[in-house]
Amino acid sequence: MGLPSCVLLNPRTAIRAPADRDIPGLVALVNALAAEGSGLFILPINGPDGAETLRAHLAAITRSGTEEVLVAEYGCELAGLLTATRGLHPARRCVATIGVGVRAEDRRCGIGRALMEAIEEWAEDADISRLELTVAVTNRAAIALYKSCGYESEGVLRASARVDGAALDQIMMAKLL
Ligand SMILES: CC(C)(COP(=O)(O)OP(=O)(O)OC[C@H]1O[C@@H](n2cnc3c(N)ncnc32)[C@H](O)[C@@H]1OP(=O)(O)O)[C@@H](O)C(=O)NCCC(=O)NCCS
Repeated sequence: MGLPSCVLLNPRTAIRAPADRDIPGLVALVNALAAEGSGLFILPINGPDGAETLRAHLAAITRSGTEEVLVAEYGCELAGLLTATRGLHPARRCVATIGVGVRAEDRRCGIGRALMEAIEEWAEDADISRLELTVAVTNRAAIALYKSCGYESEGVLRASARVDGAALDQIMMAKLL
């Protein structure tokens, strides 16, 4: 599966697949997003084996052909990531589910949009015709990003998550390529 080409946002920012040297930065980014309790439901990477587990996970992703991870490098640090997972069944291979997060201090710089545009390039190369995601009804920033990238709301998934014991409604959004 071809990786998207490196997308340059400006001389300090690039979108690309993660490399082995990114592991510490990726652990820090994942843990920052997880600690924030942001709309991205991501688990922290804990413990002394965390970096090794992540390395093995990224290697498995590279082999799988069903998943893609992109990172945004801003200056010398990782500032954002996007994951895409395509369906396993032949009937669902044309669909990928995505999740995106940008470090709090680097938001509103166009990084989220650049990641969304890069994954479309990957999807088109991979013969994927639908990108989909779920987003909490309260996540105004993410909903605005997705709408500005051409995603449409397809309905509310009632009580489809539980946060701090409270039921959370999510919107199903999708873009047909
Ligand atoms: C959602 C998120 C990824 C956006 O990333 P970002 O890098 O800040 O987004 P961009 O700078 O590329 O913004 C692109 C467009 O999205 C919209 N947007 C982004 N953040 C917004 C906000 N806080 N309020 C209103 N619109 C917003 C705007 O239309 C923006 O274009 P503009 O800056 O020209 O007005 C980021 O806020 C984030 O990581 N949030 C926490 C994790 C999360 O909720 N992920 C989504 C889970 S479903």
